[in-house]
Amino acid sequence: MWKEDVLVDQKGYRLIDGIYSRGEVIGNSNVDKMLLAPGTDFHSRVRVPGSQSYFDCAVVYHYLERLFKGFSAKTVLDVGCGDGRVTTWLLENTAANIVAVDCSLDSLRRLQRRYLAQSEGYERRVLLLQCNVVDIPLRENSCDFVWAFESLYYLLEDYQRGINELSRILTDQGLLANCDRDYEYGLIYELLNKGPEALLAADKTKLMPEPGEEGDLQARLLTRREIRQALKANELYVMAESPVPAISVMVSYLNSRGLFVDEIQRYSAEMVSLFLKLLPETAFCKSTIFWSSKSQRGAPF
Ligand SMILES: C[S@@+](CC[C@H](N)C(=O)[O-])C[C@H]1O[C@@H](n2cnc3c(N)ncnc32)[C@H](O)[C@@H]1O
Repeated sequence: MWKEDVLVDQKGYRLIDGIYSRGEVIGNSNVDKMLLAPGTDFHSRVRVPGSQSYFDCAVVYHYLERLFKGFSAKTVLDVGCGDGRVTTWLLENTAANIVAVDCSLDSLRRLQRRYLAQSEGYERRVLLLQCNVVDIPLRENSCDFVWAFESLYYLLEDYQRGINELSRILTDQGLLANCDRDYEYGLIYELLNKGPEALLAADKTKLMPEPGEEGDLQARLLTRREIRQALKANELYVMAESPVPAISVMVSYLNSRGLFVDEIQRYSAEMVSLFLKLLPETAFCKSTIFWSSKSQRGAPF
């Protein structure tokens, strides 16, 4: 019943094997490439000590644990959920219903198989939706926690449109958490991996090429000021900014160069504890989680 309440059903969406879809997604060049590829298996990566996902996910779960100690949500929207490393966390650790949105059908199918295998009850709590995040078939004011981790920057010049769409869906008292690739981090990543010319090119284009399973994706690099402006333009008040440390990228860089590989494996868990302890002092961010709301109120934790 809750699914019918949040869905706007007049846009040609229908249920195909448990996933609401129009059978196509119209989007930019990133979306076109993501549609053709299987999408990253984040769940497997999270378990590889030394991988970026291993560290980033520990940080994300840490923030979510803190948030849900003093916050409850009836309906959560997981934007660009991928194969659901956060959707599954939300299922296991909160009582919320969850709308999981992604353009990649393969990722949504993996997510579906994973939670269905875990518990029959989970199917009732998840609405899987294949669509473009700039045009989500959900009602206004229908979700009280909107989570967008490392997905909006793929919208490139439509970033503001994405924030606009999430703001439309967010309830008046709800909480939006969006997290996108940091500008300075992108420049440093290009310098480390490709040299000074690539760094200067990234500064000119504001884009970071991301070679991967999907082909060459482009990530829009955003300064924290740009993100604050995009939120402000939608009358969203930023209550707190939480860093996702760039140190995870440095560790996976060493790994990719075959340096300290055994040590990284051995000390990954200890390093995670250290990074979590340092979070309040973190200055060099891979990305920043912006916690915002339509109503002015205190920090979420
Ligand atoms: C880097 S992954 C992050 C996945 C997930 N948020 C997580 O943290 O595990 C980005 C995800 O955003 C999705 N995505 C990118 N652009 C999108 C768009 N315009 N509409 C819907 N999904 C999109 C991709 O398919 C991919 O699953």
